[in-house]
Amino acid sequence: MIPQETIQRIMDATHIEDVVSEFVSLKKRGANLIGCCPFHNEKTPSFNVSPARNIYKCFGCGESGNAVGFLMKHEKYSYPEALRWLAKKYNIEIQEEQLTQEQKERNTERDALYHVSEFAQKYFAQLLTEDEMGRAIGLSYFHNRGLSDPVIKEFGLGYCLEQWDNFTKYARRSGYSDNVLQKTGLTIFTDDGKCYDRFRGRVMFPIYSVSGRVLGFSGRILSKEKQAAKYVNSPDSEIYNKSHILYGLYQARTAIARHDKCYLVEGNIDVISMYQSGVENTVASCGTSLTIEQVRLMRRYTKNVTVLYDGDKAGIKAAFRAVNMLFEEGMHVRVVLFPDDEDPDSYAQKYGSTKLQEYLRDNETNFILFKTRVLADDIKGDPIRKAEILNDIVRTVALVPDLMERTEYVKQCASLLHIPEVTLQNELAKVLNRKLYEGLQHTPDPNDKDLREPPPPAPGPPLDPPGPDAPPEAPDAVAHQQQAAAAAVRQQQQALSQIFNPSLAQEKQIVSLLLNYGNEVIELDGKDEQGNDVKLPYTVAQVIVGDLMNDQLSFDDITCQAIFNDFVQQVADGATCFDIQRFVDHPDPLVRDMAVTLMMNSYQISDNWAKMKNIYVPLPESRIKEDVAESLWTFKDKKLKKKMADIDAQFPYVNNDDDRLILMAQKMALAETLRKLDTNLHRVIT
Ligand code: CTP
Ligand code: MN
Repeated sequence: MIPQETIQRIMDATHIEDVVSEFVSLKKRGANLIGCCPFHNEKTPSFNVSPARNIYKCFGCGESGNAVGFLMKHEKYSYPEALRWLAKKYNIEIQEEQLTQEQKERNTERDALYHVSEFAQKYFAQLLTEDEMGRAIGLSYFHNRGLSDPVIKEFGLGYCLEQWDNFTKYARRSGYSDNVLQKTGLTIFTDDGKCYDRFRGRVMFPIYSVSGRVLGFSGRILSKEKQAAKYVNSPDSEIYNKSHILYGLYQARTAIARHDKCYLVEGNIDVISMYQSGVENTVASCGTSLTIEQVRLMRRYTKNVTVLYDGDKAGIKAAFRAVNMLFEEGMHVRVVLFPDDEDPDSYAQKYGSTKLQEYLRDNETNFILFKTRVLADDIKGDPIRKAEILNDIVRTVALVPDLMERTEYVKQCASLLHIPEVTLQNELAKVLNRKLYEGLQHTPDPNDKDLREPPPPAPGPPLDPPGPDAPPEAPDAVAHQQQAAAAAVRQQQQALSQIFNPSLAQEKQIVSLLLNYGNEVIELDGKDEQGNDVKLPYTVAQVIVGDLMNDQLSFDDITCQAIFNDFVQQVADGATCFDIQRFVDHPDPLVRDMAVTLMMNSYQISDNWAKMKNIYVPLPESRIKEDVAESLWTFKDKKLKKKMADIDAQFPYVNNDDDRLILMAQKMALAETLRKLDTNLHRVIT
């Protein structure tokens, strides 16, 4: 029992923002702080912390409470444990009474597992520094590997004596039951009733939760014997799930938030060596291949990850798959490749911390370009392999949520693979369209009342499908900054695209129709269930989005594309009433500019244009329909002709008959589409 008065002192000392920021990277926004919610999966922050009211609330999932509640929920602490954690943080003394046997039994099993793990960690660490054998064997091993005493302490390293059941005996004497010893895996029980220490004769690496609780262990063998596994790990238990934990995160978390960046390595020793060399923001994935939970855990602290590979090609290619997951979760991925036969640890030990830091700085490259280079080496003139690699790379590029970044990758990868940019662009468009189609097919029933409400403002990245956490996410300062940065790049590209593409009139015309008449209803010919000819009502936006998606056409102008993508997303979200206002308030100045300009200049401007919704004078329906049909036709005609020119441009690059035949076939298919476009126009939209 903690006295009421002490509880009050703890509560008075507690600042919610200190507590939460140990687990979540927070940024200031007005009087509050904001970050990504640790209780549900989200990419745009909606988790608010109010220092003034000393509470947190997530506007995404609704979770809210004070510091104690946060710790109980996040760390699964009991009430007194949360208070103890806070007392420790704010240096408030609690009269900790020794646990009696009875109290120990009263604790839940979960607590008992935590207790015995912490007990074991303390014991192993003590053996390492105080026991004669521990020092002679364990400590000297760590010293030989170049680890310093403060770092050994920081990571809680230890040693388990090379005896059958030294630890088990000690734990039993201290009152821990066989049940918890078995569940944590610290002791192995054989069928004939014997038991022994799982980690006997190994140096011990405790695995901590983000708040510093011991959850399990990894033990490294010291002898060189080949039969035994180099590392033995705790089995999964009620408190330890290796696919949800990153080794070193507890020690790295503040540095990760500070640098807004995380290094991902393979081994425990690599983490510790990097830390000792001043690269404290390093974690490893506990001896498993990276899991989605680990990626999400990392993403709470930063979106920037740099993967460190040792110089073994087979290993690198195997690891590419895991990296796709990082992209899908919206991380920015970079990579450093170490020289042959070196890992971060061996490099640090051999060359020292300055050289290591220099190496990391000078050799960091963009992941997609790195992957392209590695795979390009494999082509060796084999066209099939080349096609496979092209496909593989395009799939990874398609995972990048940001349009600008994608465009840049297309350019650079095309040059690395010696293929025309348009080829890569076309492949990418196919993959993206397929993804969008899949998204559209999962569109919920638009008649569902809840879904007809206009979607929330501040669209996410254009092609980002709504995740399971699609609650309204308010625009925020961070998003604003990012968008502004993206906008600067975009402005540059826009200038370029205007030089190379003097006429964007068709593209702007389409966007103008979307913005000014997106919600107008026009009737198209269709069939009812009995197959009779009927008129079916569609909004202009539905028609345009449907038609262009059908032909897999995209915009050259990125701002036009961004606005179009937003409409696609709205259609995918099941909107029947499109939100136009969001473009006028859009955080990206280029989108805002284009929207306002198009809404003011096209057609006649009504007197009360300031009320953005009434910006246009309604045209008679027949005029709109004609405009839509004509604009779509002109747009497509131009696109298809451009595609044709692109195909022609590829012929000089082709050096074998097969490829030439493929191009010819593409050309003929296009010619056919163009011809149909000529004659079919008035059947498409009338
Ligand atoms: N690992 C494991 N079980 C093994 C081998 C490896 O769990 N039998 C995990 C460990 O987490 C280890 C990581 O995979 O840290 C990387 O393995 P490896 O590269 O072989 O080890 P290093 O980290 O280089 O360890 P050391 O330098 O001590 O040899
Ligand atoms: Mn190593």
